[in-house]
Amino acid sequence: EKAGFDHFMLKEIYEQPKAYRDTMRGRIGEDGKSVLLKELQMSDEYVKSIRKVQIVACGTAYHAGLVGKTVIESLVRIPVENDVASEYRYRSPIITPDTLVIVVSQSGETADTLAALREAQRNGARVLAITNVVGSSVAREADDVLVTWAGPEIAVASTKAYTSQLIAFYLLGLHMTRVLGTQETSQEEEMITALQQLPEQVEEILQQAAVLKQVAESIAHHRSLFFIGRGVDYAVAQEGSLKLKEISYIHSEAYAAGELKHGTLALIEDDVPVIALVTQEALYEKTLSNIKEVKARGAHVLSIVNSGFELEAAKSVDEVFAIPKTLPLLTPALAVVPLQLLSYYASLALGHDVDKPRNLAKSVTVE
Ligand code: M6R
Repeated sequence: EKAGFDHFMLKEIYEQPKAYRDTMRGRIGEDGKSVLLKELQMSDEYVKSIRKVQIVACGTAYHAGLVGKTVIESLVRIPVENDVASEYRYRSPIITPDTLVIVVSQSGETADTLAALREAQRNGARVLAITNVVGSSVAREADDVLVTWAGPEIAVASTKAYTSQLIAFYLLGLHMTRVLGTQETSQEEEMITALQQLPEQVEEILQQAAVLKQVAESIAHHRSLFFIGRGVDYAVAQEGSLKLKEISYIHSEAYAAGELKHGTLALIEDDVPVIALVTQEALYEKTLSNIKEVKARGAHVLSIVNSGFELEAAKSVDEVFAIPKTLPLLTPALAVVPLQLLSYYASLALGHDVDKPRNLAKSVTVE
């Protein structure tokens, strides 16, 4: 059932191109120029009435929501808040009838996420669920459901469910954009074209897995490391850090690159690995200057950059891994893949149970 792979996690990482295609299938018009989410019950009138979005989830699904915030805010220009479900429930969130609450859950059975959904509905908000399990509790109770067609995810560490959630957010953002007319048609079309190229681009990254295996083996003996990035790169950094902690048990922290000098820089000393995501062209210079700060303190820096920027980046870092070029908003769907492989190979090098990390369950149905 592992289809020749040593672990479910690796199999699921390699299933991502298919998961992207399956999640997009039937949701992009024949002409390849428009997004059609026929399954949504919400009317265009309703979409026009939304004044605020709250995205609520746990763990990796929460991290997908962080990217979702940037997608919705930049495409649709409606303010978005992100909440961890266990916090949302108890902070008396301001939920009004013109708030769209989006819950994200691979399993659709996470106790806190389900409770958040109910809390939102009790307050008169409409709830849209992004979930991988048709017929799950979250899917049954939500007002609208956008299924991620990633297929069953067995490994505790979520990979293809996360990236399919990103695809769902891109589709939802494009749907709302079309209804509200917030982007030029040409921009929408450009994004749809770029979306459809992602599966092949993930395949290109997977072909370079051997390089990442080597890097993973070199970081596996470190006690602690850092992930840095700005904008959506920071969101991906948080997911990369969780993945590494979860299965390799190596301590790591994700930092917004610009925040380092407000405290964490004190932890950077000789040989500390720093994984820097530098995929947002408008922020290249800013992040490079943060990289120089950690390099000056002896950090060993691996950077994930867009193809075409390798040579420039190589002047400032120790190792460079390039991902294929796509639109800035879409880079998370590519940049996370090398981070998934790094955690997988680090866990493997340390001899841990990759698919069933200690203390963790696949589905958290208790508070
Ligand atoms: O099934 P859900 O998406 O609701 O699960 C949420 C988290 O428990 C889950 O993403 C967890 O963080 C993963 N083990 C991370 O890899």
